[in-house]
Amino acid sequence: MADCSMAHSVEHTLALPHGLIAWDALGAHDAGVTMVLLHGFPHDRGLWTSQAQALTTAFPDTRLLIPDLPGFGRSTPPTESTMDAYADTIAALLDAAGATTVVIGGLSMGGYIALAFWRRHSARVRALVLMDTKATADSAPARARRVELIEAIQREGFGPSVPSLIPGQLGRTTRETHPALVERVEIMLRRAPEQGVICAATAMMLRVDSTPTLDTITVPTLVIVGDEDALTPVSDAIAMSSAIRGSRLVTISAAGHLSPLESPDVVNAAIGEFLDVAVRSA
Ligand code: MLT
Repeated sequence: MADCSMAHSVEHTLALPHGLIAWDALGAHDAGVTMVLLHGFPHDRGLWTSQAQALTTAFPDTRLLIPDLPGFGRSTPPTESTMDAYADTIAALLDAAGATTVVIGGLSMGGYIALAFWRRHSARVRALVLMDTKATADSAPARARRVELIEAIQREGFGPSVPSLIPGQLGRTTRETHPALVERVEIMLRRAPEQGVICAATAMMLRVDSTPTLDTITVPTLVIVGDEDALTPVSDAIAMSSAIRGSRLVTISAAGHLSPLESPDVVNAAIGEFLDVAVRSA
């Protein structure tokens, strides 16, 4: 039977000088809170299906904006591969959506963009939800791995690299017990456009250390991490959370790097409670 409580999603697009940005909008325009969800690398807005489906139950009185980041899904690759450029594109999207102040939720690369957004557009940030992400810049070995990935894509396309990325994306429990989800994530990775992957890998490789930014954050902040996250482990989340005044840290058991997809009910409950207690009543 169809779920009648599921919010209706409407796709929007905006033409920017570099091309198109596409996003889904769900919920009432005049909802009490607008939250934008930024996916990680190399995902698209499909990462947030479980959050979109739970809108009316987990996040009542919330409007959700869920973009494809530049270069992924239906959005055109950026002309400038920097976190600042991705953040400015999100600001343009918010202008077009008529959203003045928003909760910025970002997973991994989406979190790097959320921190860049805070530096550049802090007046528009009502709260932050930082999921499976970290503040530090790439180490030298991490940069070398990005270069290897970019060279491999240029040589043979992105497809052959996808299987090696799965163990970093999903926790051990999901990989051992949830083959359908593993397949779904693999399909999402395989549809990532090569140019978008190269631009995002370049931007991540060049990103600045956001550690000094953490001390400047003055809005309510929720940090979420899967306890099986191998890419941005619990230790990164603890370091980030302890540097953000008053932030809360929620650890999701038996979930990896894609905790909102691997354990949606627990993540949705944590975000829903945060919106109620720390955002609406602030
Ligand atoms: C992501 O999920 O966005 C990436 O794995 C982050 C990274 O590679 O640093």
